Amino acid sequence: MTPTIPLQPNLLTESRRRLRTAAATWFAVAVAGQWAFVAFIVLYFTPPLLQGDPLAMNTKPHITGWAPGDAVGNFQFVGHVFLGALVTFSGVLQLVPALRQRWSALHRWNGRAFMLAALAASLTGFYLTWVRGSQLNLPSALSTSLNGALILVFVALAWRAAWRGDIALHRRHALRAWVLVNGVWFLRIGIMLAGLGLAPFGVRMGYDSAVFLGVSFASWIVPLALVQLYLVAERSPRAAVPNAIAGLLFLLAGLTAAGAVAAVAFMWGPYL
Ligand code: HEM
Repeated sequence: MTPTIPLQPNLLTESRRRLRTAAATWFAVAVAGQWAFVAFIVLYFTPPLLQGDPLAMNTKPHITGWAPGDAVGNFQFVGHVFLGALVTFSGVLQLVPALRQRWSALHRWNGRAFMLAALAASLTGFYLTWVRGSQLNLPSALSTSLNGALILVFVALAWRAAWRGDIALHRRHALRAWVLVNGVWFLRIGIMLAGLGLAPFGVRMGYDSAVFLGVSFASWIVPLALVQLYLVAERSPRAAVPNAIAGLLFLLAGLTAAGAVAAVAFMWGPYL
């Protein structure tokens, strides 16, 4: 009798390993890109405040930025950018497996800081957009606001799942909250990639253009969809599914690296 070879289980184990490697590769690229964003925020916004020259924050064009006489709006603006830095920095730490496993107390405290900062960054973002009126245009304001509303939803769901001890559900919602919190960073990566892609054709991307608005919505919808694909792929019984998503993640790691380098070179570097 010919022995049966458990081919599919081996292929499945191998493809799941490939999926984890691809996810880790993309994550390493994302960490570098997100911390470059954090470094920009700290290095650009801190000196004007320390030197008592807040108007210097407007050297880089903002929608409103620092407006003399608007104490509440300025407080929200400055709070928003530093909360943005905090949430971007602390979000990355939550996803490092070694930190979660070896220093679970750090994971819990950093998780609380991440969630509170995410809520406050979103609420100050709502204030800037809808009370202060800092909008590029209505569609992009709606896109960022939907992103912000979903941050509130998934942070609350992740918090509730952790509170109830349902760690598998907590992980799924926390991953969604994390990509949504990074919607503004994905937006910058997307703008850079679209700019690089369109430049050879001599096309300029205005804030009202279909390309910009498409990138604006895609900056949070696509990452959210990719998290879902990743979660499905991790549990799929067919090796082809994790293999396909792993391939996609390797491709995205390359694109993300290109967008992040371009953001440092063209968007942030010139203002430091
Ligand atoms: C939670 C993640 C968020 C982060 C990390 C973040 C980060 C930032 C940063 C760094 C800036 C300064 C712009 C620059 O110099 O490039 C900014 C500006 C702004 N953000 Fe956010 N943001 C977040 C969420 C939101 C949300 C959800 C909204 C809207 C509901 C929003 C609305 C705004 C507005 C309107 C400005 C422009 C202010 C101006 O130019 O006067 N943000 N954000």
